[in-house]
Amino acid sequence: MRLFFAIWPPREVAAALHEWALGAQRAVGGRVTTNAKIHLTLAFLGERTPERAQAATAAAHHVRFAPHCLAIEQAAYRRHNRIVWAGPREVPAALADLAAALRAALAQAGFTLEKRAFAAHVTLLRKARGDVLAPLPAIAWPVTEFVLVHSVLATEGSRYTNLETFRCGHWAHPAHP
Ligand code: 2AM
Repeated sequence: MRLFFAIWPPREVAAALHEWALGAQRAVGGRVTTNAKIHLTLAFLGERTPERAQAATAAAHHVRFAPHCLAIEQAAYRRHNRIVWAGPREVPAALADLAAALRAALAQAGFTLEKRAFAAHVTLLRKARGDVLAPLPAIAWPVTEFVLVHSVLATEGSRYTNLETFRCGHWAHPAHP
């Protein structure tokens, strides 16, 4: 199973990013990420057995994180792989902490992850032709949960299935005295 952990935006954030991406596509071509597939990857696991998927789920349940707001403020073209991505100018400390805590929990459970540093980005276009990009609208993405996703490669692009959702404790029980 090809697995990764990610945060998924609320509907209105995905819609705003998708609309911007459609405009960018008119300028620089490429294949646009469909609305429902817009996400930000926290940790990429790659091919794992169903047993290891369970181990990853158990590890992620130990991760505590603070709810926060992610401002998506910049978009750029990455020439070497021809993607257009959007992301924060500075990764909020709470998001960096979440990614680090998740990676540490996975390492503790025996997963060897790529050494590459966490790069908070949302891929919006693939196979784009250049970097003439309009400014992004103001986008505030509330982060209160993350998910473990199973990705199946298909001819029309990957199909994603949400295997488990991990919620931030504070907002899950707001009425707690
Ligand atoms: P991308 O959008 O930059 O391609 C599902 O494929 C998710 O995992 C995507 O967010 C993708 O990032 C990311 N991903 C794919 N392959 C990866 C790899 N080898 N290392 C890290 N992230 C990867």
